[in-house]
Amino acid sequence: MDHFSLRDGVMHAEDVSLVTIAEKVGTPVYVYSRATLVRHARVFRDGLAALGSPHIAFAVKANPNLAVLKVLQREGYGADVVSGGELARALKADMAPADIVFSGVGKTQAELTFGLDTGIGQFNLESGEEARELSAIAATRGQRAPCALRINPDVDAGTHDKISTGKADNKFGIPLPDAPALYAELAALPGLDLRGLAIHIGSQLSSLDPLETAFLKIGTLLKRLRAAGQTVSHVDLGGGLGVPYKAGEVLPSPAEYGAMVARITRDWDVRLSFEPGRVIAGNAGVLLTRVIRVKRGLNDPFLIVDAAMNDLARPALYGSWHDFAAVEPAGERMTANIVGPICETGDTFAMGRECDRLQAGDLAVFRTAGAYGATMASSYNSRGFVPEVLVDGDRFAVVADRLDAASIMAAETLPDWL
Ligand code: LLP
Repeated sequence: MDHFSLRDGVMHAEDVSLVTIAEKVGTPVYVYSRATLVRHARVFRDGLAALGSPHIAFAVKANPNLAVLKVLQREGYGADVVSGGELARALKADMAPADIVFSGVGKTQAELTFGLDTGIGQFNLESGEEARELSAIAATRGQRAPCALRINPDVDAGTHDKISTGKADNKFGIPLPDAPALYAELAALPGLDLRGLAIHIGSQLSSLDPLETAFLKIGTLLKRLRAAGQTVSHVDLGGGLGVPYKAGEVLPSPAEYGAMVARITRDWDVRLSFEPGRVIAGNAGVLLTRVIRVKRGLNDPFLIVDAAMNDLARPALYGSWHDFAAVEPAGERMTANIVGPICETGDTFAMGRECDRLQAGDLAVFRTAGAYGATMASSYNSRGFVPEVLVDGDRFAVVADRLDAASIMAAETLPDWL
């Protein structure tokens, strides 16, 4: 459920008309609903109620906007970060260092050191090489870094190939067969406090089955490690729960997910952590855009909107579907090719899509754009970065300014020899 709905024929975000936002801020613009973020944060937490009070770290990569992080921090969420930049954002949003988990295959020495400086709660280690490096850095500083070993369980998440992370040939985690020996080696390193395991097999999962398969493998490994005398007190089960992108689509709910986790982990006796991203932020945002013009096509017309693949990359990158709807639908429908202004054919949001009838100047939204939307934007075609707005009841604020082509150009210099 989200808080983007028609009121007197005009789409609103909570109590604010999207027409008002378009007039005040311009288009394209990302619009987030605080009530939806809060609702999703609570529904996810409630779904895990049977597990006691597990640690929940929002995957910052899904939506790193500071205001979004602050909303979640106020809901008691921690952060899953994958770069120094994301760590800085989580700290700026007042997330407690102890509630921050640092994931990612390519943490640099500077990033590992930043994590140690900050006293983050856990490093999720992705290789023996990384673990030895972290141990060496921590030991010279007289520290022991709290960490978990990320396991690659070789499970097909059944999602898009580009966002699948748990197959043996993906770059993530330690191959399961290597885990017992490596765990024993790393547990003995002076700079590490190896407390457990981590796993994340992919994103936008539409079935719980691959997660269950992967968690069962973690359970077997956990018992094997304990039988060998190792300590395993923490397990991080990652994120990955999918969200509906099409009206009417039904995906496993947080409650069903929580029930499955409770069943599988019943006798694990560990502190569990989770790293949800999309399920919290996805349906809490829309990309508001204006139709520039409608161009005659050989078959269907081209609806040329002022948002483009640089603003919302998912359709171009993964062939993803985002529902598209008029802000002031008149009741008539049309079939159109929905495209942006960028000079490549990849800048296509949908071909032959049935949608509300629109004409030049009309406003429309791409729905479910709150996760992996603004954060994946680029300035391709020198289009600048889209602003972000957070709505809260009947008020709204611009929480990220539009970065126009001139601001981006301001960071460039001409060398004096040119
Ligand atoms: N934890 C780790 C270690 C991850 O790599 C990810 C996502 C998450 C948690 C959060 O997963 P979620 O709950 O959001 O599924 N750009 C792609 C998605 C990439 C996801 C990468 N990792 C997209 O637009 O679909």
